[in-house]
Amino acid sequence: MTPAGQLLAAEIEAQGPILFSRFMDAALYHPEHGYYRRARRQQGADPFGRQGDFYTATQLQPVFGRLIAALCTQWQRQLGLAGAFHVVEWGAGRGEMAEFLNAFHYYPVDIDGGTVPAAFEGVIFCNELFDALPVEAVRVRQGEARVMRVGHHDGRFVWVEGEPLSGPWLPYAVNLCARVTDIREEEEVWLELPIGLESLLASITQPLSRGFVLAIDYGYTEREIIRFPRGTLMAYRRHQALDDVLLNPGEQDITAHVPFTHLEHCAHELGLHTRPLLTLTQLLMSAGETDQFAAALHADDEASAQRLRMQLKSLLFGLGETFRCLVMEKREAPEGS
Ligand SMILES: C[S@@+](CC[C@H](N)C(=O)[O-])C[C@H]1O[C@@H](n2cnc3c(N)ncnc32)[C@H](O)[C@@H]1O
Repeated sequence: MTPAGQLLAAEIEAQGPILFSRFMDAALYHPEHGYYRRARRQQGADPFGRQGDFYTATQLQPVFGRLIAALCTQWQRQLGLAGAFHVVEWGAGRGEMAEFLNAFHYYPVDIDGGTVPAAFEGVIFCNELFDALPVEAVRVRQGEARVMRVGHHDGRFVWVEGEPLSGPWLPYAVNLCARVTDIREEEEVWLELPIGLESLLASITQPLSRGFVLAIDYGYTEREIIRFPRGTLMAYRRHQALDDVLLNPGEQDITAHVPFTHLEHCAHELGLHTRPLLTLTQLLMSAGETDQFAAALHADDEASAQRLRMQLKSLLFGLGETFRCLVMEKREAPEGS
């Protein structure tokens, strides 16, 4: 069993089945054995890229970095900020964006470190941050929503039906479930509760006095939940998507699609203004259209130019329709408030 698995099994032995959010948190972020922590300590355990478990858009450099930098420049002009313009990247991973965002005052932050200016104007950039947040799992059967816990049986982690869902998340689950069962005759519906999303958004946007927050991720709107009657939890290992998120804790990535309607709701609660949700293709087209992608595709020789065109193609056609982009804006508080 994996080291994170041993800890979780002991915890279950001592106190009974645990919440899925606890399982996901330990599997990904246990200080020693969590997937995103272990990766930084053990050579060869890097989750990103060819040798790892998955690619993100960030690995498609330099085109992705150049286009995001172009977008930041557009926003800098829009805000009329000729001077200090900060770009804070939350969930910066391997830090591949540094080369492109260093032209601004760039601050990469991840769970193991990074600093953020106390108050700043500029951009907060999050690529695949919100899909990595621990969620709660819920199963709805015959009209009853129950929390799904994680038990341990015969050396394997297993789902265990827990208590009926109650409290503020119940209406959230009922609403999503109704959208699935009104159209499909599902015997049971699984869904996730994004319990940490609002507090993370609140803490990352707190030091921003004026500017934009860009969240890029895979996800769904409330209307699209119909596509996911079995929920969206997914594990990734060696470039394979796996349904069993309880396997090998600490050694495979666990994600949940981002509920963008809820993210928009949280943004409004925090006083942020949202723009219409875009696909990654739409966002990158708007970043590249001012010069017809000339800067993004600039290269000194034909072989490099061809490689860049392939990267742009992968971004637009490979990831472009799967990934969504939510732009949130923090405006200056009106005088006297
Ligand atoms: C899927 S990876 C994406 C990394 C990078 N943005 C990229 O596109 O390659 C998610 C990253 O978010 C980080 N992360 C998760 N929760 C975080 C938090 N609360 N604060 C900062 N980073 C966090 C993880 O450690 C991980 O590096």
